[in-house]
Amino acid sequence: MINRFRLIGIMGVIGILVACQQPGTPKSQYDTSTSVKMDSATFAGKVDGKDVHLYELKNKNGVQAYFTNFGARIVGLWVPDKDGNLCDVVLGFTKAADYHNPKEPYFGTIVGPFGNRIAKGTFKLDGQTYNLPINNGVNTLHGGFKGVHFANWSVKSSDESSITFAYTLADKAEGFPGNIAMEVTYTLNDQNELMISYQAQSDKKTVINLTNHAYFNLNGEGSGTILDHQMQIFADRFTPVDSTLIPTGELKQVQGSAFDFTSVKTIGQDINADDQQLTYGKGYDHNFVLSKQTEGEWYKAAHVVGDKSGIVMDILTQEPGIQFYSGNFMNELVQLKNGTKDSFRTGFCLEPQHFPDSPNQPSFPSTELNPGQVYQTKSLYRFSVK
Ligand code: GLA
Repeated sequence: MINRFRLIGIMGVIGILVACQQPGTPKSQYDTSTSVKMDSATFAGKVDGKDVHLYELKNKNGVQAYFTNFGARIVGLWVPDKDGNLCDVVLGFTKAADYHNPKEPYFGTIVGPFGNRIAKGTFKLDGQTYNLPINNGVNTLHGGFKGVHFANWSVKSSDESSITFAYTLADKAEGFPGNIAMEVTYTLNDQNELMISYQAQSDKKTVINLTNHAYFNLNGEGSGTILDHQMQIFADRFTPVDSTLIPTGELKQVQGSAFDFTSVKTIGQDINADDQQLTYGKGYDHNFVLSKQTEGEWYKAAHVVGDKSGIVMDILTQEPGIQFYSGNFMNELVQLKNGTKDSFRTGFCLEPQHFPDSPNQPSFPSTELNPGQVYQTKSLYRFSVK
């Protein structure tokens, strides 16, 4: 097994892979997907006049992670299932250009400079008001129309196990103060852990909240809904929202409610409960306040099991919260890598982050970044089987 980073373009076609299956092995019973052919010629292209490529990291266990510089996105992640077959557990596209589409729901992308919502697209810093593009009802979501998800990042460095993307958002380009220089590093190790490290600096006081917006389906992309996945979130409280999904400021206990994921249950178990919060979110679309159960330098955030594949994903982070989104707005608007559509709740997102609307919520952990300060945070996605 070659364990090194490379531009896939150099290699040409990397082969025909079937979700949850190594080439030449029978399909797993749960696998309803069709063949996926990822190659640089199909994927690469020009977006906004700039070259967009496909990049790959591999480890000694055969885990393959694919990235692109457009949005510094994860575009594929092949991990072994309980039978040892490889399964692509993130949703995405075969072509770079397909990511440049307003109907594209932030697949695998970095969102920023402020991921999640800012109420009415406005906030104040040192008495000065900043106005942002309104792109989600009355609010700003994920940094506005372009944010950093429709940006062409550059590859700053790469080695056998990691790749670093860099992008500087110009002062006021999306309404945020400061030239904000961001770096995101993906590192894949031989323990089947994908780590995402974030760094940012600004020449003016600003706000920052970077995260990755990957949609996961641990039974494989395009293999049906995620409702039977088992999930645990290490959070005793969550941030209830108003009808526009802006936190009310309360940190509410999850105990006894549909939001109680403190022990393992299926995503679908309580998703249709009679709860105004679920009505507002059209399901789960909420930030959970991590209880800060530690594992080494990390906070435990979430534990998820694909009911059919046996694939386990544990998320650890340095962030205070995690947004759980159950794919409620997925509505067959785009076509995935394996030819299926992004049907309702066929993917879920778990986005480690600071709380939504923090710039307007003085009681939430601060998201302010001062000139001279270095913003640094990281999250870890560990894959195993059950
Ligand atoms: C985030 C939001 C959701 C939704 C998705 C993209 O996770 O919280 O409400 O907008 O992005 O569809």
